[in-house]
Amino acid sequence: MAVFRRVFGLMVFSVLMIEVANAACSNGTCKILDECSSDADCGAGLYCFSCLAKSRCVRSTATDQFKLVNNSLPFNKYVFLTTHNSFAIEGEPSHTGVPRITFNNQEDNNGVRALMLDTYDFEGDVWLCHSFKGQCHDYTAFEPATDTLREIEAFLSANPSEIVTVILEDYVQAPSGLTKVFTDAGLMKYWLPVSKMPQNGADWPLVSDMVANNQRLLVFTSVRSKEQSEGIAYQWNYMVENQYGDDGMKAGDCFNRAESSPLNDTTKSLVLVNYFRSVPVKPLACVQNSGNLIDMLQTCHAASANRWANFVAVDYYKRSMGGGTFQAVDTCNGELLCGCNNVHSCVAP
Ligand SMILES: *[C@@H]1O[C@H](CO)[C@@H](O)[C@H](O)[C@H]1NC(C)=O
Ligand SMILES: *[C@@H]1O[C@H](CO)[C@@H](O)[C@H](O)[C@H]1NC(C)=O
Ligand SMILES: *[C@@H]1O[C@H](CO)[C@@H](O)[C@H](O)[C@H]1NC(C)=O
Repeated sequence: MAVFRRVFGLMVFSVLMIEVANAACSNGTCKILDECSSDADCGAGLYCFSCLAKSRCVRSTATDQFKLVNNSLPFNKYVFLTTHNSFAIEGEPSHTGVPRITFNNQEDNNGVRALMLDTYDFEGDVWLCHSFKGQCHDYTAFEPATDTLREIEAFLSANPSEIVTVILEDYVQAPSGLTKVFTDAGLMKYWLPVSKMPQNGADWPLVSDMVANNQRLLVFTSVRSKEQSEGIAYQWNYMVENQYGDDGMKAGDCFNRAESSPLNDTTKSLVLVNYFRSVPVKPLACVQNSGNLIDMLQTCHAASANRWANFVAVDYYKRSMGGGTFQAVDTCNGELLCGCNNVHSCVAP
C-alpha cells in the first residue's frame, strides 16, 4: 500500500509539473511562438499550429494596410496576400455528385484580397476546376464560378473601402462566358475598366479614388483577346510575374514565367510573385511560407528592377512557423509605403 501511495504521489507530482510547464501562458496570454495546446491559449491574431514539431502560436490574420496606414496612394504602392487556386478549398463538398479526386491548395480565404481562380467551360456554365488533360471533369470540379463570385460581391458590398483582385487562369471559350458569370454575380458595378489601367508603367489610380468611384474590382484574364472582346484586362499587359511551381522555388533565382515580360520590364507597373510547389504538400507549406518566402521576395525584388511584389501568391496561406505570409506581406508593404521592413512601423506609435 505504501509503495502504491508513493508511486501514485509521484505520478500526481509529475502531472503537476507538466501542467506547470505548460501553464507559462494560457487562455489568450500566449504570444507569437509560445507553446500552446489550443487556439484559445493564443492572443489576438494568433492561432495554435504545429509546423512539423511542437504546437506554437503563429499568426492567423492579415494586416489591412488601408486601415492601418491610409488609402491615398496609387494601387501599385500596396501589397496583397494572394491565394493560389483560391477555390480549391479543403472540405468543399462535391457539386457534381461525383467524389473529387484532385488536390486542394487552401483551407479558406479569410483576409485575402487577391484570388487566383481557374475558369473552365463545364456543364454549359463556367466552373472553377483543376484540369486533367486541359479539361474540367466531374471529379476535378470544385464549384460553379458564380458561387464564388457571389461571395466576392457580398464581401465588396459589406466592405465599401476594400479592393479585390481576381486573376484568372482562363480556359473559358464560350463567347462572353466570363461576362455572363460576372454579370450574374452582380459584380459589374464594381468593375475597374481597362481604360483606367496604365499600360506604360505609370502609376495606377489612387485607391481612395477607386473607393470613391466604387471601382473596387480588378479582373485579369490569361486570354489576350478578351481585353478587346470583353473588356477584361489581359494580365501580362499590366503585370510581370515570376515562374510558378517548383521551378519558381529555387533559392536565389527569380525569373519571369513564359507569358510575362522579363521581371525588370517597368512598363508593367504591377509585380506578382508566386511561391508554391507544383503539387501542394500540405505539411511543408508552413516551412515554405516562412523564411523561404521572405528570401524569395528579396530575390524577386532585385530581379524586378528593385520593385517589391504587389501580389504574394501562396498555398495554405495560414500555415507558418511564426509570421509566415502575413509577415512577408507586412514587410513588402512597409518597404513600399515607408521604406521600412514592417508596415506597422509606417504609423506613428
Ligand atoms: C480567460 O480569459 C477570459 C477573458 O480574459 C476570462 O473572462 C476567463 O475567466 C478566463 N478563463 C480562465 C479559465 O482563466
Ligand atoms: C533585364 O533583365 C534581363 C535578364 O532577364 C537582362 O538581360 C537585362 O539586361 C535587364 N534589363 C535591364 C534594363 O536591366
Ligand atoms: C498615406 O501614407 C503614406 C505612407 O506612409 C504617406 O506617405 C502619405 O502622406 C499618407 N497620406 C495621407 C493623406 O495621410
